[in-house]
Amino acid sequence: MHPERRTQYLEAIGIDLWLSRNSGARPAADRAPGASAAEREPPPPALDTAARWDALRSEVLQCTRCPLHLTRTQGVLGVGPKRADWLVIGEAPGAEEDRRGEPFVGAAGQLLDAMLRAIGLDRRTNVYIANVLKSRPPGNRDPRPEEVAACLPYLVRQIALLQPAIMLAVGRIAAQNLLGTDAPLGRLRGRVHRFGELNTPLVVTYHPAYLLRTPADKRKAWEDLKFARSVYQQRAKAQ
Ligand code: URA
Repeated sequence: MHPERRTQYLEAIGIDLWLSRNSGARPAADRAPGASAAEREPPPPALDTAARWDALRSEVLQCTRCPLHLTRTQGVLGVGPKRADWLVIGEAPGAEEDRRGEPFVGAAGQLLDAMLRAIGLDRRTNVYIANVLKSRPPGNRDPRPEEVAACLPYLVRQIALLQPAIMLAVGRIAAQNLLGTDAPLGRLRGRVHRFGELNTPLVVTYHPAYLLRTPADKRKAWEDLKFARSVYQQRAKAQ
C-alpha cells in the first residue's frame, strides 16, 4: 500500500504518530512479484466445498437452536472471500448487522475496516469476517454461555471450510470463547495462540466498539495489528 494511503487509514483510526513508512503489509496479490494475473487467480472452489458453504448459510438463516432466533431479523453468517488468508472474528451482530445481514457494517465496522486497511487487508479481497454468534442479542447484551454453545459449531464449520492462515479475535468475548479461557483481554494480547486441529495461529486485539469508546487504546491495537501481520508474514515465508 502507498505510504500516504496507509497514513490516511491510520489517521482515520486515530493513529498518526510513530508510523514506519516502510512497514506496510502488502495485499496477497502483491506477494508473488513474478506471478502473472492468471497465476494469482485462485481456481474456483471444488463443488463439495461450495455445497458445504451453501448448507451452512441456509442452516444459519433458518437456525432455531437458541431463543435469539425469536428476536433477530436474520442470521448473519459472515462476509469475505472464501479463500481469504485472514479470518477476523467478532462477538455478535449489532442492530445494523442484523438489519443488513453482514457483520461489522455499523460504526464499529467502519473502524474495523480502517484498522484492516492499515495492514493491507480488505473484506472484499483478502479477509473474511465472522462473529461468534450469528444472531443479534437484544439490546446488544453480552452473549450467554448457552447461546455461544449453540452457535459455536457454525463458526467451527466456517473455520474448517476457510482454513485461514491466521485468525484475529477482536474483543474479549471472541477471544475468551475461541480460546476457552476467562483470562482478561490484556493477558491474551501480544502472543500467538493456536486454534483447532490445524493449529491455526490466533492473535487477539481490542474490539473496535471498545476503541471507539476508548481511543487511547488505539495505539495498543495498532501494535496488535502489526504483530498479527508479522505472524502472518513469517508463516507465509516458512511455507
Ligand atoms: N460487533 C461485533 O462484534 N460484530 C459485528 O458484526 C458488529 C459489531
